[in-house]
Amino acid sequence: MCIIKNSLYQSHEIIKSVVKEGDIVVDATAGNGNDTAFLASLVGERGKVYAFDIQERAIRNTENKLREKGLLERVELILDGHQNMDKYVKQEVKAVMFNLGYLPGGDHSIGTKGETTSVAIEKSLDLLAVHGIISIVIYYGGDSGFDEKNYLIKYIEGIDPRKYTVMKTEFVNQINCPPILVCIEKLSK
Ligand SMILES: C[S@@+](CC[C@H](N)C(=O)[O-])C[C@H]1O[C@@H](n2cnc3c(N)ncnc32)[C@H](O)[C@@H]1O
Repeated sequence: MCIIKNSLYQSHEIIKSVVKEGDIVVDATAGNGNDTAFLASLVGERGKVYAFDIQERAIRNTENKLREKGLLERVELILDGHQNMDKYVKQEVKAVMFNLGYLPGGDHSIGTKGETTSVAIEKSLDLLAVHGIISIVIYYGGDSGFDEKNYLIKYIEGIDPRKYTVMKTEFVNQINCPPILVCIEKLSK
C-alpha cells in the first residue's frame, strides 16, 4: 500500500480535519454524489450541505446515492452552476469542495470551465469562515484538456496572500496527468 495517496484522498483528509458536526459546507460539483455523501456524513444531522451541478443526471445520481445512505435530509441539491452559489448560500461555510472535470460515466464534453470555476472560487473565498478550507481537485489532459488547469493555476497564484494561504500539490514523475490538488485556507476576514 502506498504512503503517498492520490489528490482525491488527500482532499478528503484535509476536509475531514476541519469539518465538524453541525457545519455548513458546499459541494460545488455533485457529479455522482460521492463527495456530497462524504460531506453529509461529516456534518451530521444538525449540519447542511449545498450541492451544485448543471446536469440533471448528476443531481439524480447524487439524490439516489444520498437516499440509499439515509443522508438526503442534510443536503440541498441545486441544479445550477456553482458560479451562482451566492444566490443560494447565505451563511458562512466551513468548506467548499470542487472535483473538476466531467461526470464519470457521462458526457465528456460537459465539463467544468476555468472562467466559471474561477467565479465560483471567488464567491467561495467570500463565503468561507476564517480557517475554513476550499479543496480543488483539478483533472487535466485527456478529454479534460489543459485550458481549465492553466486558467485556474494562474488565477489561484493571484489570490491575496494576506487573507488566504494557497497550496498546490502535484505529482511530478507520473504518467497520464494525475490530478492536482489545490487547498485554500482563509486566514482573516
Ligand atoms: C468530476 S465530476 C464530480 C464528481 C463528484 N464530486 C463525485 O463525487 O462523484 C464534475 C461535475 O461537475 C459538473 N459541472 C460542470 N460545470 C459545472 C458548473 N458550472 N457548476 C456545477 N457543476 C458543474 C459536471 O456536470 C460533473 O458532474
